[in-house]
Amino acid sequence: MYQFYEEYCLAQAEKNRLRALPQIDATVVHDFSSNDYLGLSMHADVIDAAAEAARHWGVGSTGSRLLSGNNRLTEAFEAQIAQDKETEAALIFCSGYQANMTVLASLLHKRVLNAPPLVFFDRLNHSSLYNALFLSGAEYVLFEHNDMDDLQCQLEKHGAASRPAFIVAETVHGMEGDLLPLADMAAIAADYNCFLYLDEAHATGLYGPRGYGLSTTVDLSPIPHLVMGTFSKAIGGAGAYIACTEGLKKFVLNRTAGFIYSTAPSPMSVAAAARAWEMVGTLGEQRQRLFATSSLLRQRLREAGLTVLGDGTNLVPVCLGPEAETLALKSALLDEGILVSAIRPPTVPTGTSRLRIAVNAGHDDETIVSLSDAIGRHMFGASGRSA
Ligand SMILES: Cc1ncc(COP(=O)(O)O)c(C=O)c1O
Repeated sequence: MYQFYEEYCLAQAEKNRLRALPQIDATVVHDFSSNDYLGLSMHADVIDAAAEAARHWGVGSTGSRLLSGNNRLTEAFEAQIAQDKETEAALIFCSGYQANMTVLASLLHKRVLNAPPLVFFDRLNHSSLYNALFLSGAEYVLFEHNDMDDLQCQLEKHGAASRPAFIVAETVHGMEGDLLPLADMAAIAADYNCFLYLDEAHATGLYGPRGYGLSTTVDLSPIPHLVMGTFSKAIGGAGAYIACTEGLKKFVLNRTAGFIYSTAPSPMSVAAAARAWEMVGTLGEQRQRLFATSSLLRQRLREAGLTVLGDGTNLVPVCLGPEAETLALKSALLDEGILVSAIRPPTVPTGTSRLRIAVNAGHDDETIVSLSDAIGRHMFGASGRSA
């Protein structure tokens, strides 16, 4: 049987798409690949919180939350998340992938809804959301990324108002580097009586008046909704939360297999995320600087003649198209000690391979200038500019 798996890998290699773990001995001077957008993963207070929690509660949670894995630390953090997300309740998971896949799939269950649901799904949604969709077996309609006209058109065309309908989207897109027009989407969801499922993986820690996500900038209370976010990006740790009504929390506790049958997150992860979460509210200046340096990078790369996607985020995708060219540029930058991610199909659509540059709060203007100069040099020669 091993041969099938080997053949799969060989076929991937022939297409130059075989994934491999990156070399850990590469010398990285400037890291533009990390999702630790606010540098909290190495913050002394966050590390202390994790160490203290391990001493007090142990390194493992010892069981599912419904059995031995519940503790005051986790419950207090959930209450804080609910308060900052302005929702009634919150519930923590071990990872964002687990939360999306298992929560969304359980919300879409046709026996629970007493009818087969119809899901309006942003074409470029994350793999965890796609897999939730496939796991649920729900019927779905793709709409063009962040295109509210197309969403409305599809809702109309497929008679969304006549059956349980859901809209699923990311508020900050991790690969496109753009922002969801959330107020418009919320208005559409209200018009068509849709349930709104939002992924705030890349928004948590960076958006909203105090950094607690884009969902805190729009009044979502008139529509049924659930917001999921992760601790694995700007919070600098691991795990995820859902923020929702008490009623939905009760449903997830009772129906969502990935919550019920999985060991609760380690007290160390919970304590670290709780400390980082608390700090996020005080990091307004760092966020402002981060968005200023990100916009400087976008501007310089565009001036050099490159196709830069998105706006208003610290995620700066430079779209090159062909995979080989993207990999070559990533490798040339790494030779200079600059680490960026090369993103290729199937993560992004064919022909849109890109460098994904994640600017973080530790990058200053000088570093941004040297990165854009290096990219310009490798793309266009010594002048660094397109012809
Ligand atoms: C949009 C989005 N949702 C969910 C996830 C999964 O989160 P986690 O890494 O915590 O499993 C990611 C992570 O890459 C993501 O980008």
